[in-house]
Amino acid sequence: MDKQKKLVILSGAGISAESGLKTFRGGDGLWEDHRIEDVASPEGWQRDRELVLRFYDERRKQVLQAQPNEAHRALAELESHFHVDIVTQNIDDLHERGGSSNILHLHGEIVKARGSLDESYVILLDQETIPLGMKCPKGSQMRPYIVWFGEAVPLLENAARLVIQADILVIVGTSLNVYPAAGLIDFAPEGCPIIAIDPNDIPLPQGVTHLKKKASEGIPLLARQLIEDHS
Ligand code: OAD
Repeated sequence: MDKQKKLVILSGAGISAESGLKTFRGGDGLWEDHRIEDVASPEGWQRDRELVLRFYDERRKQVLQAQPNEAHRALAELESHFHVDIVTQNIDDLHERGGSSNILHLHGEIVKARGSLDESYVILLDQETIPLGMKCPKGSQMRPYIVWFGEAVPLLENAARLVIQADILVIVGTSLNVYPAAGLIDFAPEGCPIIAIDPNDIPLPQGVTHLKKKASEGIPLLARQLIEDHS
């Protein structure tokens, strides 16, 4: 068994689609009733905090009702055979509840809140909503712990450092539309096998193996293959 091999997973909304959470760019995308800039930008927050808070309250309720699927669970099981690091663009906690240990959330976490003026003040919510009037110790309104469009991605360097060390890179359920996250693939070391699992066509660099399957089928299939090849 090759316990030292480092497996890095880049996941996106597609891995949670079969848990009932909508992707962003599908036909009935998650933004359906809203303009992205109204609910996922600092300007939108300045304009209408109530709207932004309610939008994410709704997302939070859906996440809390969702359950991890076969893909999340299969990634957790791979930890018995590999060192597994997950870099996810997802704000849900389904990788955690699926049993994975090392998860970096590039775009934040819906189950957490932060001070709007104090980004170092982050709490795990023990309720489904962030009400207007819920403030950080310095007095600023609490907001979702989410990276919005136009904001820096604080964990990007940490994520790049993980990808640089990958022995095998797996991309699952991301349309690779959103930068800088999509650019992380470029940090894969020379010769590192890259496997993408997505039922649809996505813009992949040359040399990437595309397994055109849904995550709940593709990830367990790949996991069995990797275990066979490396044990
Ligand atoms: P997208 O909605 O852009 O892409 C989802 C991908 O999942 C697509 O390529 C689909 O083909 C694929 N997909 C759909 N069903 C699937 C399934 N069952 N199994 C596997 N793949 C499936 O979502 P992301 O790429 O994650 O950022 O979006 C990136 C970022 O855009 C999000 O993190 C979010 C959004 O704006 C912020 O909010 C900051």
